[in-house]
Amino acid sequence: MTDNTRVLIFDTTLRDGEQSPGATMTHDEKLEIAQALDEMGVDIIEAGFPIASEGDFEAVSDIARNAKNSVICGLSRANLKDIDRCWEAVKHARRPRIHTFIGTSPSHRGITNLDQDQMIERIYQTVTHARNYCEDVQWSAMDAIRTERDYLCRVVETAIKAGATTINIPDTVGYTLPQESAEIIRMLLERVPGADRIIFATHCHNDLGMATANALAAVSAGARQIECTINGLGERAGNTALEEVVMAIKVRRDLMPYTTGIDTTKIMNLSRRVSQVSGFPVQFNKAVVGKNAFLHESGIHQDGVLKNVETFEIMKPADIGLTETNIAMGKHSGRAALRSKLSDLGFDLADNQLNDVFVRFKALADRKKEIYDEDLVALISDSTANTDSDYLQVKWLRVVCGSDGQEAELKMTVDGVEKSARVPGDGPVDACFKAVKAIYPTNARLKVYQVQAVTQGTDAQATVSVRLEEDGRIVTGSAADTDTILASVKAYVGALNRLRVRSQKTAPDADMKTVSYKI
Ligand code: KIV
Ligand code: ZN
Repeated sequence: MTDNTRVLIFDTTLRDGEQSPGATMTHDEKLEIAQALDEMGVDIIEAGFPIASEGDFEAVSDIARNAKNSVICGLSRANLKDIDRCWEAVKHARRPRIHTFIGTSPSHRGITNLDQDQMIERIYQTVTHARNYCEDVQWSAMDAIRTERDYLCRVVETAIKAGATTINIPDTVGYTLPQESAEIIRMLLERVPGADRIIFATHCHNDLGMATANALAAVSAGARQIECTINGLGERAGNTALEEVVMAIKVRRDLMPYTTGIDTTKIMNLSRRVSQVSGFPVQFNKAVVGKNAFLHESGIHQDGVLKNVETFEIMKPADIGLTETNIAMGKHSGRAALRSKLSDLGFDLADNQLNDVFVRFKALADRKKEIYDEDLVALISDSTANTDSDYLQVKWLRVVCGSDGQEAELKMTVDGVEKSARVPGDGPVDACFKAVKAIYPTNARLKVYQVQAVTQGTDAQATVSVRLEEDGRIVTGSAADTDTILASVKAYVGALNRLRVRSQKTAPDADMKTVSYKI
Protein backbone atom coordinates (compact mmCIF):
# COMPACT_ATOMS: atom_id res chain seq x y z
CA MET A 1 0.00 0.00 0.00
CA THR A 2 1.56 3.27 -1.06
CA ASP A 3 -0.86 5.80 0.37
CA ASN A 4 0.33 6.19 3.94
CA THR A 5 -2.80 8.05 5.01
CA ARG A 6 -5.14 5.20 4.12
CA VAL A 7 -6.33 3.15 7.12
CA LEU A 8 -7.64 -0.33 6.33
CA ILE A 9 -10.86 -1.35 8.05
CA PHE A 10 -10.89 -5.00 9.13
CA ASP A 11 -14.34 -6.02 10.28
CA THR A 12 -14.63 -8.98 12.64
CA THR A 13 -18.38 -8.81 13.43
CA LEU A 14 -18.77 -12.32 12.02
CA ARG A 15 -15.90 -13.76 14.07
CA ASP A 16 -15.07 -11.85 17.27
CA GLY A 17 -18.54 -10.27 17.30
CA GLU A 18 -20.34 -13.53 16.80
CA GLN A 19 -18.21 -15.04 19.57
CA SER A 20 -20.14 -12.92 22.04
CA PRO A 21 -22.30 -15.42 23.99
CA GLY A 22 -25.76 -15.49 22.44
CA ALA A 23 -24.87 -13.48 19.33
CA THR A 24 -24.91 -16.55 17.10
CA MET A 25 -26.10 -15.80 13.58
CA THR A 26 -27.57 -18.20 11.06
CA HIS A 27 -25.76 -19.07 7.83
CA ASP A 28 -28.00 -16.82 5.73
CA GLU A 29 -27.68 -13.94 8.17
CA LYS A 30 -23.88 -14.20 8.01
CA LEU A 31 -23.95 -14.13 4.22
CA GLU A 32 -26.24 -11.13 4.23
CA ILE A 33 -24.06 -9.19 6.71
CA ALA A 34 -20.90 -10.07 4.75
CA GLN A 35 -22.46 -8.77 1.53
CA ALA A 36 -23.43 -5.53 3.26
CA LEU A 37 -19.91 -5.12 4.68
CA ASP A 38 -18.44 -5.70 1.24
CA GLU A 39 -20.79 -3.12 -0.32
CA MET A 40 -19.95 -0.66 2.45
CA GLY A 41 -16.27 -0.75 1.52
CA VAL A 42 -14.80 -2.81 4.37
CA ASP A 43 -11.27 -3.75 3.28
CA ILE A 44 -11.04 -7.08 5.09
CA ILE A 45 -13.91 -9.21 6.41
CA GLU A 46 -13.02 -11.78 9.04
CA ALA A 47 -15.75 -14.24 8.15
CA GLY A 48 -15.27 -16.82 10.90
CA PHE A 49 -13.14 -19.48 12.52
CA PRO A 50 -13.36 -22.37 10.03
CA ILE A 51 -12.19 -25.19 12.31
CA ALA A 52 -14.56 -24.20 15.12
CA SER A 53 -17.56 -25.98 13.60
CA GLU A 54 -18.95 -27.26 10.33
CA GLY A 55 -21.29 -24.25 10.30
CA ASP A 56 -18.39 -21.79 10.58
CA PHE A 57 -16.53 -23.57 7.80
CA GLU A 58 -19.54 -23.43 5.46
CA ALA A 59 -20.17 -19.77 6.27
CA VAL A 60 -16.57 -18.74 5.58
CA SER A 61 -16.49 -20.75 2.31
CA ASP A 62 -19.74 -19.26 1.05
CA ILE A 63 -18.78 -15.73 2.03
CA ALA A 64 -15.45 -16.24 0.23
CA ARG A 65 -17.24 -17.40 -2.92
CA ASN A 66 -19.63 -14.42 -2.93
CA ALA A 67 -17.33 -11.53 -1.97
CA LYS A 68 -16.81 -8.92 -4.66
CA ASN A 69 -14.15 -6.54 -3.35
CA SER A 70 -13.25 -7.26 0.27
CA VAL A 71 -10.42 -9.55 1.30
CA ILE A 72 -11.95 -12.59 3.04
CA CYS A 73 -10.11 -13.76 6.09
CA GLY A 74 -10.49 -16.84 8.29
CA LEU A 75 -9.06 -17.33 11.77
CA SER A 76 -6.86 -20.26 12.78
CA ARG A 77 -4.89 -21.14 15.88
CA ALA A 78 -1.16 -21.79 15.59
CA ASN A 79 -1.30 -25.36 14.39
CA LEU A 80 -1.12 -26.90 10.95
CA LYS A 81 -4.55 -28.55 11.03
CA ASP A 82 -6.30 -25.26 11.80
CA ILE A 83 -4.42 -23.51 9.02
CA ASP A 84 -5.24 -26.27 6.49
CA ARG A 85 -8.91 -26.00 7.37
CA CYS A 86 -8.81 -22.21 7.20
CA TRP A 87 -7.26 -22.29 3.74
CA GLU A 88 -9.87 -24.80 2.53
CA ALA A 89 -12.53 -22.24 3.44
CA VAL A 90 -10.96 -18.96 2.30
CA LYS A 91 -9.33 -20.24 -0.89
CA HIS A 92 -12.53 -19.59 -2.85
CA ALA A 93 -12.18 -15.84 -2.37
CA ARG A 94 -10.86 -13.52 -5.04
CA ARG A 95 -8.65 -12.12 -2.29
CA PRO A 96 -8.12 -14.68 0.51
CA ARG A 97 -6.29 -14.14 3.80
CA ILE A 98 -5.22 -16.60 6.49
CA HIS A 99 -5.13 -15.16 10.01
CA THR A 100 -3.22 -17.20 12.55
CA PHE A 101 -2.59 -16.31 16.18
CA ILE A 102 -1.02 -17.43 19.42
CA GLY A 103 -1.12 -16.00 22.95
CA THR A 104 2.31 -14.50 23.67
CA SER A 105 1.94 -13.02 27.17
CA PRO A 106 3.26 -14.97 30.18
CA SER A 107 -0.19 -16.24 31.17
CA HIS A 108 -1.04 -17.31 27.62
CA ARG A 109 2.32 -19.06 27.23
CA GLY A 110 1.38 -20.94 30.40
CA ILE A 111 -1.85 -22.17 28.78
CA THR A 112 -0.07 -23.44 25.68
CA ASN A 113 2.76 -25.01 27.69
CA LEU A 114 5.38 -23.59 25.38
CA ASP A 115 8.48 -21.77 26.63
CA GLN A 116 9.67 -18.64 24.85
CA ASP A 117 11.93 -20.44 22.38
CA GLN A 118 9.41 -23.18 21.62
CA MET A 119 6.84 -20.51 20.88
CA ILE A 120 9.22 -18.76 18.49
CA GLU A 121 9.64 -22.06 16.62
CA ARG A 122 5.89 -22.59 16.53
CA ILE A 123 5.31 -19.12 15.13
CA TYR A 124 7.91 -19.61 12.41
CA GLN A 125 6.51 -23.01 11.45
CA THR A 126 2.85 -21.97 11.34
CA VAL A 127 3.30 -18.66 9.54
CA THR A 128 5.51 -20.38 6.95
CA HIS A 129 2.84 -23.04 6.51
CA ALA A 130 0.17 -20.38 5.97
CA ARG A 131 2.41 -18.51 3.52
CA ASN A 132 2.82 -21.67 1.47
CA TYR A 133 -0.91 -21.48 0.79
CA CYS A 134 -1.53 -17.77 0.61
CA GLU A 135 0.33 -14.54 -0.11
CA ASP A 136 -1.75 -12.60 2.37
CA VAL A 137 -1.07 -13.84 5.92
CA GLN A 138 -1.96 -12.05 9.12
CA TRP A 139 -0.36 -13.03 12.38
CA SER A 140 -1.62 -11.95 15.82
CA ALA A 141 0.18 -11.91 19.14
CA MET A 142 -2.81 -12.53 21.37
CA ASP A 143 -2.57 -10.46 24.59
CA ALA A 144 0.29 -8.50 22.97
CA ILE A 145 -0.23 -5.59 25.35
CA ARG A 146 0.69 -7.74 28.40
CA THR A 147 3.61 -9.42 26.63
CA GLU A 148 7.14 -8.46 27.75
CA ARG A 149 8.31 -5.77 25.32
CA ASP A 150 11.58 -7.51 24.31
CA TYR A 151 9.78 -10.76 23.72
CA LEU A 152 7.06 -8.99 21.73
CA CYS A 153 9.78 -7.63 19.43
CA ARG A 154 11.18 -11.15 19.01
CA VAL A 155 7.84 -12.78 18.14
CA VAL A 156 6.92 -10.02 15.71
CA GLU A 157 10.34 -10.28 14.02
CA THR A 158 9.86 -14.05 13.70
CA ALA A 159 6.42 -13.72 12.12
CA ILE A 160 7.74 -11.14 9.63
CA LYS A 161 10.69 -13.37 8.73
CA ALA A 162 8.31 -16.28 8.15
CA GLY A 163 6.32 -14.14 5.71
CA ALA A 164 3.45 -12.49 7.61
CA THR A 165 2.21 -9.44 5.71
CA THR A 166 0.05 -7.99 8.49
CA ILE A 167 0.98 -8.08 12.18
CA ASN A 168 -1.83 -7.59 14.65
CA ILE A 169 -1.20 -6.26 18.16
CA PRO A 170 -4.35 -7.14 20.12
CA ASP A 171 -5.39 -5.74 23.45
CA THR A 172 -7.24 -8.97 24.15
CA VAL A 173 -8.47 -8.05 27.62
CA GLY A 174 -9.11 -4.34 27.05
CA TYR A 175 -6.36 -3.29 29.45
CA THR A 176 -4.37 -0.67 27.61
CA LEU A 177 -4.63 3.13 27.50
CA PRO A 178 -4.10 5.38 24.48
CA GLN A 179 -0.54 6.43 25.34
CA GLU A 180 0.55 2.81 25.79
CA SER A 181 -1.27 1.64 22.67
CA ALA A 182 0.66 4.23 20.63
CA GLU A 183 3.96 3.59 22.39
CA ILE A 184 3.90 -0.15 21.56
CA ILE A 185 3.33 0.43 17.84
CA ARG A 186 6.04 3.10 17.78
CA MET A 187 8.46 0.75 19.55
CA LEU A 188 7.79 -2.11 17.13
CA LEU A 189 8.27 0.18 14.13
CA GLU A 190 11.57 1.40 15.54
CA ARG A 191 13.02 -1.85 16.86
CA VAL A 192 11.84 -4.72 14.66
CA PRO A 193 13.78 -5.40 11.45
CA GLY A 194 11.40 -5.54 8.49
CA ALA A 195 8.64 -3.66 10.33
CA ASP A 196 8.54 -1.08 7.53
CA ARG A 197 7.53 -3.82 5.02
CA ILE A 198 4.36 -4.94 6.78
CA ILE A 199 1.14 -3.39 8.04
CA PHE A 200 0.53 -3.14 11.77
CA ALA A 201 -3.03 -3.73 12.92
CA THR A 202 -4.70 -2.69 16.15
CA HIS A 203 -7.37 -4.89 17.74
CA CYS A 204 -8.87 -3.46 20.91
CA HIS A 205 -11.43 -4.70 23.39
CA ASN A 206 -13.57 -2.27 25.32
CA ASP A 207 -13.35 -3.47 28.93
CA LEU A 208 -12.35 -0.02 30.17
CA GLY A 209 -14.32 1.87 27.51
CA MET A 210 -11.06 2.73 25.73
CA ALA A 211 -11.30 0.68 22.53
CA THR A 212 -11.93 3.56 20.14
CA ALA A 213 -9.34 5.84 21.76
CA ASN A 214 -6.76 3.04 21.84
CA ALA A 215 -7.30 2.11 18.19
CA LEU A 216 -6.95 5.73 17.05
CA ALA A 217 -3.83 6.20 19.19
CA ALA A 218 -2.28 3.14 17.51
CA VAL A 219 -3.06 4.66 14.12
CA SER A 220 -1.43 7.94 15.13
CA ALA A 221 1.72 5.91 15.91
CA GLY A 222 1.75 4.11 12.56
CA ALA A 223 -0.77 1.25 12.64
CA ARG A 224 -2.68 1.15 9.35
CA GLN A 225 -5.35 -1.47 10.00
CA ILE A 226 -8.12 -1.12 12.57
CA GLU A 227 -9.96 -4.27 13.65
CA CYS A 228 -13.51 -3.56 14.69
CA THR A 229 -17.12 -4.72 14.71
CA ILE A 230 -20.46 -3.13 13.89
CA ASN A 231 -22.02 -1.69 17.08
CA GLY A 232 -18.85 -2.74 18.93
CA LEU A 233 -20.32 -6.26 19.18
CA GLY A 234 -18.01 -8.72 20.88
CA GLU A 235 -17.25 -10.71 23.99
CA ARG A 236 -17.56 -8.98 27.38
CA ALA A 237 -17.61 -5.23 26.73
CA GLY A 238 -17.08 -5.80 23.02
CA ASN A 239 -14.60 -4.69 20.37
CA THR A 240 -13.75 -1.32 18.86
CA ALA A 241 -16.92 -0.06 17.14
CA LEU A 242 -16.49 0.37 13.38
CA GLU A 243 -18.88 3.31 13.25
CA GLU A 244 -16.95 5.16 15.98
CA VAL A 245 -13.46 4.92 14.48
CA VAL A 246 -14.67 5.58 10.95
CA MET A 247 -16.71 8.65 11.93
CA ALA A 248 -13.95 9.95 14.23
CA ILE A 249 -11.51 9.80 11.32
CA LYS A 250 -14.03 11.53 9.07
CA VAL A 251 -15.05 14.23 11.53
CA ARG A 252 -11.56 15.03 12.88
CA ARG A 253 -9.50 15.11 9.68
CA ASP A 254 -7.89 18.24 11.08
CA LEU A 255 -6.18 16.21 13.80
CA MET A 256 -6.09 12.81 12.08
CA PRO A 257 -5.16 13.18 8.41
CA TYR A 258 -6.30 9.67 7.43
CA THR A 259 -8.91 8.17 5.18
CA THR A 260 -10.89 4.94 5.08
CA GLY A 261 -12.72 3.32 2.17
CA ILE A 262 -16.04 3.17 4.06
CA ASP A 263 -19.26 4.52 2.59
CA THR A 264 -20.51 5.99 5.86
CA THR A 265 -24.07 6.41 4.59
CA LYS A 266 -24.48 2.65 4.93
CA ILE A 267 -23.64 2.63 8.65
CA MET A 268 -27.11 3.06 10.14
CA ASN A 269 -28.83 0.30 8.18
CA LEU A 270 -26.05 -2.14 8.89
CA SER A 271 -26.06 -1.23 12.57
CA ARG A 272 -29.80 -1.98 12.76
CA ARG A 273 -29.42 -5.24 10.92
CA VAL A 274 -26.54 -6.48 13.06
CA SER A 275 -28.49 -5.58 16.16
CA GLN A 276 -31.45 -7.62 14.90
CA VAL A 277 -29.63 -10.72 13.82
CA SER A 278 -27.36 -10.83 16.85
CA GLY A 279 -30.17 -10.07 19.29
CA PHE A 280 -28.01 -7.38 20.92
CA PRO A 281 -29.92 -4.10 21.13
CA VAL A 282 -27.93 -0.90 20.64
CA GLN A 283 -27.96 1.20 23.80
CA PHE A 284 -29.93 4.44 23.32
CA ASN A 285 -26.95 6.69 24.08
CA LYS A 286 -24.43 4.69 22.01
CA ALA A 287 -22.09 6.97 20.06
CA VAL A 288 -23.00 7.45 16.38
CA VAL A 289 -25.76 4.80 16.04
CA GLY A 290 -27.72 5.04 19.31
CA LYS A 291 -31.34 6.13 19.08
CA ASN A 292 -30.51 9.34 20.98
CA ALA A 293 -27.27 10.13 19.14
CA PHE A 294 -28.92 12.88 17.10
CA LEU A 295 -31.79 13.77 19.43
CA HIS A 296 -31.83 17.18 21.04
CA GLU A 297 -34.31 17.15 23.90
CA SER A 298 -33.32 20.16 25.94
CA GLY A 299 -34.75 23.54 24.99
CA ILE A 300 -31.31 25.18 24.72
CA HIS A 301 -30.07 22.45 22.37
CA GLN A 302 -33.20 22.50 20.22
CA ASP A 303 -33.05 26.25 19.90
CA GLY A 304 -29.36 26.14 18.97
CA VAL A 305 -29.81 23.37 16.40
CA LEU A 306 -32.74 25.15 14.78
CA LYS A 307 -30.68 28.33 14.38
CA ASN A 308 -27.52 26.58 13.22
CA VAL A 309 -27.12 22.78 13.16
CA GLU A 310 -23.42 23.06 13.84
CA THR A 311 -24.12 24.50 17.29
CA PHE A 312 -24.59 21.06 18.77
CA GLU A 313 -24.09 18.61 15.89
CA ILE A 314 -20.60 17.53 14.87
CA MET A 315 -21.88 15.30 12.07
CA LYS A 316 -25.04 15.17 10.02
CA PRO A 317 -27.54 12.31 10.46
CA ALA A 318 -27.38 11.83 6.68
CA ASP A 319 -23.60 11.11 6.96
CA ILE A 320 -24.46 7.75 8.53
CA GLY A 321 -27.53 7.20 6.35
CA LEU A 322 -30.05 8.30 8.93
CA THR A 323 -32.99 9.73 7.05
CA GLU A 324 -35.78 11.80 8.56
CA THR A 325 -38.19 9.45 10.32
CA ASN A 326 -41.52 10.73 9.08
CA ILE A 327 -44.62 8.62 8.88
CA ALA A 328 -43.52 6.09 6.34
CA MET A 329 -46.49 4.04 5.29
CA GLY A 330 -50.11 3.35 6.07
CA LYS A 331 -52.72 0.72 5.36
CA HIS A 332 -53.35 2.00 1.83
CA SER A 333 -49.71 1.67 0.77
CA GLY A 334 -49.13 -0.92 -1.92
CA ARG A 335 -46.49 -3.54 -2.56
CA ALA A 336 -44.37 -1.29 -4.81
CA ALA A 337 -44.27 1.48 -2.19
CA LEU A 338 -43.28 -1.06 0.44
CA ARG A 339 -40.52 -2.47 -1.77
CA SER A 340 -39.13 1.01 -2.43
CA LYS A 341 -39.30 2.02 1.24
CA LEU A 342 -37.55 -1.18 2.30
CA SER A 343 -34.89 -0.64 -0.32
CA ASP A 344 -34.23 2.85 1.15
CA LEU A 345 -33.80 1.14 4.49
CA GLY A 346 -31.25 -1.24 3.01
CA PHE A 347 -33.44 -4.32 2.53
CA ASP A 348 -33.61 -5.61 -1.03
CA LEU A 349 -35.98 -8.53 -0.76
CA ALA A 350 -36.65 -11.35 -3.17
CA ASP A 351 -40.28 -11.56 -4.40
CA ASN A 352 -41.29 -14.37 -2.04
CA GLN A 353 -39.80 -12.56 0.97
CA LEU A 354 -41.56 -9.36 -0.05
CA ASN A 355 -44.88 -11.20 -0.27
CA ASP A 356 -44.46 -12.50 3.25
CA VAL A 357 -43.46 -9.09 4.62
CA PHE A 358 -46.34 -7.45 2.75
CA VAL A 359 -48.88 -9.74 4.45
CA ARG A 360 -47.36 -8.93 7.84
CA PHE A 361 -47.25 -5.23 6.96
CA LYS A 362 -50.97 -5.18 6.13
CA ALA A 363 -51.79 -6.98 9.38
CA LEU A 364 -49.74 -4.43 11.30
CA ALA A 365 -51.32 -1.51 9.45
CA ASP A 366 -54.74 -2.78 10.52
CA ARG A 367 -53.69 -2.52 14.15
CA LYS A 368 -51.44 0.53 13.99
CA LYS A 369 -52.32 3.73 12.17
CA GLU A 370 -48.84 5.11 11.62
CA ILE A 371 -46.09 2.82 10.42
CA TYR A 372 -42.62 4.28 10.96
CA ASP A 373 -39.27 3.19 9.53
CA GLU A 374 -38.46 1.46 12.81
CA ASP A 375 -41.71 -0.54 12.56
CA LEU A 376 -40.68 -1.83 9.15
CA VAL A 377 -37.21 -2.76 10.37
CA ALA A 378 -38.79 -4.68 13.28
CA LEU A 379 -41.19 -6.37 10.86
CA ILE A 380 -38.34 -7.59 8.65
CA SER A 381 -36.47 -8.80 11.68
CA ASP A 382 -39.50 -10.74 12.86
CA SER A 383 -40.15 -12.26 9.46
CA THR A 384 -36.57 -13.54 9.15
CA ALA A 385 -36.36 -14.75 12.77
CA ASN A 386 -39.70 -16.62 12.83
CA THR A 387 -40.83 -18.41 9.68
CA ASP A 388 -43.53 -20.80 8.52
CA SER A 389 -41.01 -23.60 8.15
CA ASP A 390 -39.88 -23.51 11.81
CA TYR A 391 -40.00 -26.75 13.81
CA LEU A 392 -41.90 -25.01 16.63
CA GLN A 393 -44.56 -22.48 15.67
CA VAL A 394 -46.91 -20.40 17.80
CA LYS A 395 -50.46 -20.73 16.42
CA TRP A 396 -52.77 -19.20 18.96
CA LEU A 397 -52.51 -17.58 22.38
CA ARG A 398 -54.93 -16.34 25.00
CA VAL A 399 -53.72 -14.86 28.27
CA VAL A 400 -55.70 -14.01 31.35
CA CYS A 401 -54.04 -11.52 33.63
CA GLY A 402 -54.95 -9.12 36.41
CA SER A 403 -55.39 -9.09 40.14
CA ASP A 404 -57.25 -12.43 40.21
CA GLY A 405 -54.31 -14.40 38.81
CA GLN A 406 -52.69 -15.21 35.50
CA GLU A 407 -53.05 -18.07 33.07
CA ALA A 408 -51.97 -18.80 29.51
CA GLU A 409 -53.71 -20.98 26.94
CA LEU A 410 -51.44 -21.77 24.02
CA LYS A 411 -51.63 -23.72 20.76
CA MET A 412 -48.39 -24.57 18.96
CA THR A 413 -47.22 -26.93 16.28
CA VAL A 414 -44.25 -29.18 16.97
CA ASP A 415 -42.91 -30.51 13.69
CA GLY A 416 -46.32 -29.85 12.13
CA VAL A 417 -48.35 -31.55 14.88
CA GLU A 418 -50.72 -29.27 16.80
CA LYS A 419 -50.49 -29.35 20.60
CA SER A 420 -52.02 -27.20 23.31
CA ALA A 421 -51.64 -26.37 27.00
CA ARG A 422 -53.38 -24.26 29.63
CA VAL A 423 -51.09 -23.27 32.47
CA PRO A 424 -51.16 -20.80 35.41
CA GLY A 425 -48.11 -18.68 36.22
CA ASP A 426 -46.67 -15.80 38.19
CA GLY A 427 -47.51 -13.09 35.71
CA PRO A 428 -48.54 -13.42 32.06
CA VAL A 429 -45.02 -13.97 30.65
CA ASP A 430 -44.24 -16.66 33.21
CA ALA A 431 -47.55 -18.40 32.43
CA CYS A 432 -46.81 -18.29 28.70
CA PHE A 433 -43.27 -19.65 29.01
CA LYS A 434 -44.58 -22.43 31.26
CA ALA A 435 -47.19 -23.25 28.63
CA VAL A 436 -44.45 -23.53 25.99
CA LYS A 437 -42.53 -25.86 28.29
CA ALA A 438 -45.64 -27.97 28.91
CA ILE A 439 -45.89 -28.51 25.15
CA TYR A 440 -42.17 -28.78 24.46
CA PRO A 441 -40.23 -29.78 27.60
CA THR A 442 -36.76 -28.22 27.70
CA ASN A 443 -33.86 -27.78 30.11
CA ALA A 444 -32.82 -24.52 28.46
CA ARG A 445 -32.30 -21.78 31.03
CA LEU A 446 -33.54 -18.25 30.46
CA LYS A 447 -30.54 -15.88 30.69
CA VAL A 448 -31.98 -12.64 29.31
CA TYR A 449 -35.52 -11.41 28.69
CA GLN A 450 -35.62 -7.92 27.23
CA VAL A 451 -38.46 -5.75 25.92
CA GLN A 452 -38.10 -2.51 23.94
CA ALA A 453 -40.75 -0.26 22.45
CA VAL A 454 -39.97 0.28 18.76
CA THR A 455 -41.60 3.72 18.58
CA GLN A 456 -43.55 6.00 20.86
CA GLY A 457 -47.24 5.58 21.73
CA THR A 458 -49.30 2.91 23.43
CA ASP A 459 -49.92 1.14 20.12
CA ALA A 460 -46.15 0.79 19.54
CA GLN A 461 -44.71 -2.56 18.58
CA ALA A 462 -42.51 -4.22 21.18
CA THR A 463 -39.36 -6.05 20.19
CA VAL A 464 -38.50 -8.81 22.60
CA SER A 465 -35.18 -10.66 22.84
CA VAL A 466 -34.78 -13.85 24.75
CA ARG A 467 -31.45 -15.50 25.43
CA LEU A 468 -31.35 -19.18 26.39
CA GLU A 469 -28.53 -21.42 27.54
CA GLU A 470 -28.31 -25.21 27.38
CA ASP A 471 -25.19 -27.37 27.75
CA GLY A 472 -22.93 -24.36 27.16
CA ARG A 473 -24.73 -23.33 23.99
CA ILE A 474 -26.22 -19.86 24.08
CA VAL A 475 -28.77 -18.60 21.56
CA THR A 476 -30.96 -15.56 21.15
CA GLY A 477 -34.47 -15.34 19.76
CA SER A 478 -36.29 -12.15 18.87
CA ALA A 479 -39.77 -11.12 17.76
CA ALA A 480 -41.86 -8.01 17.29
CA ASP A 481 -45.57 -7.41 17.79
CA THR A 482 -47.93 -4.75 19.08
CA ASP A 483 -48.86 -7.41 21.67
CA THR A 484 -45.88 -7.59 24.03
CA ILE A 485 -46.89 -10.96 25.47
CA LEU A 486 -47.29 -12.55 22.03
CA ALA A 487 -43.90 -11.12 20.99
CA SER A 488 -42.41 -12.63 24.15
CA VAL A 489 -43.75 -16.10 23.36
CA LYS A 490 -42.58 -15.88 19.73
CA ALA A 491 -39.11 -14.78 20.83
CA TYR A 492 -38.91 -17.64 23.34
CA VAL A 493 -40.06 -20.19 20.77
CA GLY A 494 -37.65 -18.68 18.20
CA ALA A 495 -34.77 -19.18 20.61
CA LEU A 496 -35.83 -22.81 21.18
CA ASN A 497 -35.83 -23.37 17.41
CA ARG A 498 -32.28 -21.99 17.19
CA LEU A 499 -31.15 -24.11 20.09
CA ARG A 500 -32.51 -27.20 18.39
CA VAL A 501 -30.66 -26.37 15.15
CA ARG A 502 -27.43 -25.70 17.05
CA SER A 503 -27.60 -28.89 19.08
CA GLN A 504 -28.08 -30.91 15.89
CA LYS A 505 -24.96 -29.35 14.42
CA THR A 506 -22.60 -29.53 17.40
CA ALA A 507 -22.01 -31.80 20.35
CA PRO A 508 -21.84 -29.63 23.47
CA ASP A 509 -18.07 -29.48 23.74
CA ALA A 510 -17.39 -29.50 20.03
CA ASP A 511 -18.38 -25.86 19.93
CA MET A 512 -14.92 -24.40 20.27
CA LYS A 513 -16.08 -20.85 20.48
CA THR A 514 -17.44 -21.52 23.93
CA VAL A 515 -14.15 -22.96 25.17
CA SER A 516 -10.73 -21.37 25.27
CA TYR A 517 -8.20 -20.90 22.52
CA LYS A 518 -6.05 -23.70 23.88
CA ILE A 519 -3.82 -25.11 21.19
O1 KIV B 1 -8.73 -10.39 21.10
C1 KIV B 1 -7.93 -11.13 20.51
O2 KIV B 1 -6.75 -11.28 20.91
C2 KIV B 1 -8.39 -11.85 19.33
C3 KIV B 1 -7.36 -12.60 18.56
C4 KIV B 1 -7.82 -13.95 18.20
C5 KIV B 1 -6.92 -11.79 17.39
O3 KIV B 1 -9.54 -11.77 18.98
ZN1 ZN C 1 -10.57 -10.07 20.00
